[in-house]
Amino acid sequence: MCGIVAALAREGNIGPEVISGLKTLEYRGYDSAGIAVMTDDGILVRRKMGKIRALESELAANGLPPSSQALAHTRWATHGVPADRNAHPHTDDNGKVVVVHNGIIENYAELRAELQQRGHQFRSDTDTEVLVNLIASNLRQSGSLHAAVRQALSQVHGAYAIVAMSECEPGRFVVARMDSPLVVGLGADGTYAASDMPALLHLTRDFLILENGETAVLELDHCQVYDPAGQPVDRVVTRCDWTPEQAEKGGYPHFMLKEIEEQPDVLARTAFDRFHDSEGDVDFEATFALDDAELRYFSRLRFMAMGTSLHSAMLGQMMLAELARLPGETLNASEFLYSPELKETDALTVIISQSGETADSLRAMREVKRRGGRVLGVCNVQGSTLAREADHLILTHCGPEVGVASTKAFFGQITALYLLAIRIGRARRVLAPSAGRQLLAALRGLRPKLDILFGAELKAAVEQAADYLASVNSCLFLGRGFNFPIALEGALKLKEISYIHAEGYPAGEMKHGPIALIDAQFPVIALATPGRTYEKMISNLQEVRAREGKVIALCAQGDERIAREADFLLQVPEVSELLQPLVNVIPLQQLSYQVALKLGRDIDQPRNLAKSVTVE
Ligand code: M6R
Repeated sequence: MCGIVAALAREGNIGPEVISGLKTLEYRGYDSAGIAVMTDDGILVRRKMGKIRALESELAANGLPPSSQALAHTRWATHGVPADRNAHPHTDDNGKVVVVHNGIIENYAELRAELQQRGHQFRSDTDTEVLVNLIASNLRQSGSLHAAVRQALSQVHGAYAIVAMSECEPGRFVVARMDSPLVVGLGADGTYAASDMPALLHLTRDFLILENGETAVLELDHCQVYDPAGQPVDRVVTRCDWTPEQAEKGGYPHFMLKEIEEQPDVLARTAFDRFHDSEGDVDFEATFALDDAELRYFSRLRFMAMGTSLHSAMLGQMMLAELARLPGETLNASEFLYSPELKETDALTVIISQSGETADSLRAMREVKRRGGRVLGVCNVQGSTLAREADHLILTHCGPEVGVASTKAFFGQITALYLLAIRIGRARRVLAPSAGRQLLAALRGLRPKLDILFGAELKAAVEQAADYLASVNSCLFLGRGFNFPIALEGALKLKEISYIHAEGYPAGEMKHGPIALIDAQFPVIALATPGRTYEKMISNLQEVRAREGKVIALCAQGDERIAREADFLLQVPEVSELLQPLVNVIPLQQLSYQVALKLGRDIDQPRNLAKSVTVE
């Protein structure tokens, strides 16, 4: 979704640094970009529909005066089509105040009508132009940008992260957030604001995280945060442990490929420091804050998430049932709000989110808390809303994930949920220390096996299957048991980045409907690794073959039985059934990547998608 970068520098021209920060937000998905700078002659705005390079061409053609105060934005259209006139930043009708905004102002139509009656002119279709005119109008009365912003925000309903600057107060930004993320960066050479930390890592690693309803006034060497009532608050500085290099492509053609290949390291980063080998147990950081007695107290778990994270939630539920004998349910977070209110005190709700900013997941988290329940967040982004607001937290430590299609974050989530299942299993005395030790040893033993997934043999097999798959319009991913969420994830990856229609199904369901699709042109991608569902999967493959369907089978290395049933084989190392999803998902990610590459798709920023979906 939209991205914001703003900077106030001690000296020099900060515009190029702001554009460079904006480029790290490209992954969020956008359709136009713009920048505003403060000059001696007032505010100057340049904006362009299309990618940041279109804005750069515009700047090269028409020039942008050097300035030490700039704010920039990438827009993902909500109100008004993608167009130059709707791109941010937006100024008020006198051009004295400028605003960039992420989110949606729900009552913008009423406010716009009121402002029009008072003589304001509008040049765009956006809700943001309403907001900036409201601020400008308040500023004329109050004489303070901070007061004007606060007053305007009290008049709007909706979600926002905004940065405002005014010609009347050069050298100052006023920022605010409600349900859309915003961080403030503090550096030796300036003060900054952005939608997320990676956008500012080239300038600083010290951040102040704004809470919902807060505003802040940014000046050189100073940032004052205010609570929703307008009282100053002291905010502790958060030091980000991500490096700027982690947020870069590092020689890879796409972030997605880099992130797929980082997964063996993610295993180490998410898991290995947390082993308590002698006890066969897991030590989470202090943010987990649940002791054995509390873990024994819960009688059910609820998992909630969206998209790829929902698939890891499904696996989490299965692993908890398996290792901790704890019943659970998995819900799409956007559905929870409408569910009947049940007793929450016996339940722990696990909310999983890479970004920690997904609006649907955050709404669900707040609803659980409102109903008296407790929330454990599983999240990749330190300082995100989920990380801050959840009662308990496990960070997945995957490093920044930039490709819109989630890969390594999914891997990190499953790894963390495996550890959680061991931790709860041990606390509930379902797992003996020896069983815990075996499970941890199996996870450690997975690391060298993952290397096979990046070898020449599998690469060639993936490319062959991708050649074929790139020619079809539609396909089915089938799996059973622990492989069912992986079938869903394989289908989601393929449709997201190749735009080929794909559905994931539990294989047993095929003959209840989807089998009607199968003919000589219709492929099935089957997850057929060893485990309790193996024989049943073979029967399903035979059913596909009997109807001349094409089979791409993902199976254990050297599995002759599956080889006889398949047109294409993706052979992977065999590991324990619980860990097999971590292995199996990688070739499916590679397959989607190769198909999208062959079709010339925009792999890191697929059409219509945003990395972090911050609206419901
Ligand atoms: O940041 P989150 O994990 O909460 O994001 C949830 C989904 O929006 C996300 O997984 C989405 O489905 C990805 N594009 C999947 O590749």
